[in-house]
Amino acid sequence: MPRQKLVAGNWKMNTTLAEAKTLAGAVVAGVGTDDRVAVAVCPPFPWLLPVADVLKGSPVALGAQNVSAEKKGAFTGEVSPAMLLECGCRYVIIGHSERRHILGESDAAINHKVHSALDEGLHVILCIGETLTERERNLTERIVQRQVLAACTGLTDHHWARLTLAYEPVWAIGTGKVATPDQAQEAHAAIRATLRHFRGSAIADALPILYGGSVTADNAAGLLHLPDVDGVLVGGASLKADSFLGIVQAAKK
Ligand code: PGA
Repeated sequence: MPRQKLVAGNWKMNTTLAEAKTLAGAVVAGVGTDDRVAVAVCPPFPWLLPVADVLKGSPVALGAQNVSAEKKGAFTGEVSPAMLLECGCRYVIIGHSERRHILGESDAAINHKVHSALDEGLHVILCIGETLTERERNLTERIVQRQVLAACTGLTDHHWARLTLAYEPVWAIGTGKVATPDQAQEAHAAIRATLRHFRGSAIADALPILYGGSVTADNAAGLLHLPDVDGVLVGGASLKADSFLGIVQAAKK
């Protein structure tokens, strides 16, 4: 079965409530009832419920940018997988490079979160990617391999069906320096080969792998037609409805 393309917007810590609702409304209007490409928006936690309201009845799905690995209890400031589901989330982004590198999330912590979110029924968008120094030292393949295997330790076949990977080279995030189609295809193919080796062809061939890092409406088409690129995770360009919808449009071709 061909893998359905996914275009997901990671709004990060941006938008006022009014801006979030307007942006979500414009995405809903632009997508209409066309569900050839899966589309998701990931607003900040406090905007999940109001944005869920705007998305009601539309094929545009809701996602969160982070989640706790814990189910409930004394974890001040944390948000559980069940809470996200109750807010209407289908997706949750886990292991974004900003959480790994700015907030110090470890592979082990990410693995714990991936398990908890999948156990609860969420779809996980798991981010991986090398830093500039790692790429310059030719370590890209080794790093992404380690990140995937560490984050996915212990997952069952049932879990894998709700997992999406996002290859996001750290040097491309928010920098305007997008990976070339060759760099993206090479990394995606290497990730798929790793999974084929460790988990078998059925899982490797079915797993969607998104590209992320400075994707815009202008460069999206060049990435989205690559054989191992199954969609994009978009930061900056997801904050303007026109550019985000331009990327959705590119994914349809
Ligand atoms: P960017 O962010 O599109 O602004 O580079 C991508 C991401 O962080 O997911």
